[in-house]
Amino acid sequence: MRLLVTGGAGFIGANFVRLTLSHRPDVSVTVLDLLTYAGNTASLPEDPRVTLVKGDIADAEMVDALVREADAVVHFAAESHNDNSLDDPWPFVHTNLVGTFQLLEAARRHRVRFHHVSTDEVYGDLPLEGGERFTPDTPYNPSSPYSSTKAGSDLMVRAWVRSFGLEATISNCSNNYGPFQHVEKFIPRQITNLIDGVRPKLYGAGLNVRDWIHVDDHNRAVWTILESGRIGETYLIGADGEVDNRTVIETILELTGHEPTDYDHVADRPGHDLRYAIDATRLREELGWEPVYPDFRAGLAATIDWYRAHEAWWRPQKLETELRYQRLGR
Ligand code: NAD
Ligand code: DAU
Repeated sequence: MRLLVTGGAGFIGANFVRLTLSHRPDVSVTVLDLLTYAGNTASLPEDPRVTLVKGDIADAEMVDALVREADAVVHFAAESHNDNSLDDPWPFVHTNLVGTFQLLEAARRHRVRFHHVSTDEVYGDLPLEGGERFTPDTPYNPSSPYSSTKAGSDLMVRAWVRSFGLEATISNCSNNYGPFQHVEKFIPRQITNLIDGVRPKLYGAGLNVRDWIHVDDHNRAVWTILESGRIGETYLIGADGEVDNRTVIETILELTGHEPTDYDHVADRPGHDLRYAIDATRLREELGWEPVYPDFRAGLAATIDWYRAHEAWWRPQKLETELRYQRLGR
């Protein structure tokens, strides 16, 4: 099987490639990645079954040639960071909307199976109280330029299924954590700050809740959907990992031997979504998926160890990232 993995040099895509190599001896992978600030060739293993093509998913000609050669496309490539989308939305429109459009057109022309990787943020946010969770029937209500462009890309996939018979599935996953995540994101930012002797930074009061899932559990679900999902269907991926941001920071501080109060509050993110929570019943009951990393605290401890052991991987991103945050006042 020949798989085209877009965004395979990013956090989740690179972990997907690694999982694929170790579990699927029958699969070869072509990674299409623009190697933006978020893409890192050092995240990819050197392996004869992996070919890296540097290119833009919005480049129609290149995309056509690569999709034509593939048995399936798994589409991870995106501009993925909310804070950046508030600073400059255009790259989000270009990659998440125009890029997805070009991929869909190529998959339609060559009748190639397509899996679209998306986010729970397309549903907006939930109240802090009440226990409500997102389901595949929750209306779309995105808050940020990032989530609105992901919502638009999801809707295009649905339209291409209905109008053109494209063989596509969609997954909407909650917040991932694990190795190879860029240091701009919440958990690696705080871990690497502490390694550098800098106090962690909590947006606002830190009551916002995210539904954390280990990246390998996300990627195992993507494989499950690719192989057994119903065409045209949307699957929500989550592992019942709701934790508020303040607790995440306190846990990181505790696991690294600091006082749980050794952090600073900084300016809140504009339009900051309050709470995400996933009801993954369809994925669990229809496709039999279960997380293998249900213990967030244990996963967090392993992630801290990974960043301690892989400074050479993250160090080149750190200064530039913190300078960008300084400019944003966060
Ligand atoms: P990431 O930012 O770490 O990686 C994105 C990758 O896409 C990078 O390698 C980058 O170089 C590449 N890329 C960006 N623009 C491109 C373009 N125009 N052409 C080709 N490649 C391009 O992102 P991530 O966290 O790994 O997220 C991957 C996907 O999963 C995204 O679609 C995101 O919306 C979705 N998702 C992420 C999370 C999460 O918690 N990180 C949760 C749910 C869904
Ligand atoms: O829900 C899935 C989404 O999760 C994905 O679609 C996105 O691609 C991914 O980036 C993530 O979005 P968030 O905005 O939730 O993740 P982020 O890591 O940026 O922030 C997590 C929470 O932590 C959020 O409430 C903001 C807060 N935060 C973030 C940073 C960087 C802080 O309090 N301090 C920080 O320094």
